[in-house]
Amino acid sequence: MANSRSRVLQYGKMPLPQLDADLAQAYEVSILSEQPDPEHFLAEQGAQFEYLVTSAAMGLPARVIQALPKLKFVSSFGVGFDALDREALQDKGVRVGYTPGVLDDCVADMAFALLLDATRGLSESDRFVRRGDWSKGRFGIRTRASGKRLGIFGMGRIGSTVARRAAGFDMEVAYHNRRPIEGSPHHYLPSLLELARWSDFLVITAAGGDSTQHLVSTDVLDALGPQGFLINVARGSVVDEAALVTALQQQRIAGAGLDVFEDEPRPKPELLALDNVVLAPHIASGTHETRRAMADLVLHNLQQYIATGRPAAEVPW
Ligand code: DGY
Repeated sequence: MANSRSRVLQYGKMPLPQLDADLAQAYEVSILSEQPDPEHFLAEQGAQFEYLVTSAAMGLPARVIQALPKLKFVSSFGVGFDALDREALQDKGVRVGYTPGVLDDCVADMAFALLLDATRGLSESDRFVRRGDWSKGRFGIRTRASGKRLGIFGMGRIGSTVARRAAGFDMEVAYHNRRPIEGSPHHYLPSLLELARWSDFLVITAAGGDSTQHLVSTDVLDALGPQGFLINVARGSVVDEAALVTALQQQRIAGAGLDVFEDEPRPKPELLALDNVVLAPHIASGTHETRRAMADLVLHNLQQYIATGRPAAEVPW
């Protein structure tokens, strides 16, 4: 069994600098992205690593997995795992730990922050005041959020946390998943199209990956309609972003709040030019408390795997 100074390969620097320090204290760490020639490093030293740490945002490409012949376990910082190459990992029987459950509150808070900003125009009103426009005229009145219909696409841990917040806003909640959830107090709608048609706010909390790619299409956006708002705190890939840009430009939906984009960190320039969309830099889990809890779970998964052969939280492929 490996000891506590096992060698660990970090794919890159982690989203919480303290985690880099914690890993370096517990293990003999090499950071691949810091190597002068990462490919050369992999060719020379790849065979020495059984353990690797990465993040949902950095992902893990097949090229790196294949350069690590003894790789057994990956500990990933984040709840999403669409950027980790599943096929390459499963081909080698590599187990993968991730960090579910500890970021639900923060991501749900962010969904509501975007929802309220999109509907009340908070970011836009901030720009209005700073520009000195208040002394020249009134800021336009907006749409109320409370009491409206909230549709959740992806009623998992984060979706349910969004639904709990919606109760405080007197909202009616419905959802769409592949299957209805037994015992759920919320209405189930059997298609995303029907959910969009029903919703004033359509909140995306579904996992990314091939099975959800571009499910929010022109048809779904048209079903949401000119009074509807789209909020995405899941993955940019779930939304056909070109279709969204057109729908926003033509005001075929009322607005959007986006924390995630198809091509991060380069949102489409057309989005930057629009006032009916609020943009955030994939920061939904970005609070001190949540990032620390995620870091602790990354460390715990790694320790557990090394000690017992099983991480505390394993990716359910
Ligand atoms: C996650 O945890 O998956 C966040 O979206 C960060 O990528």
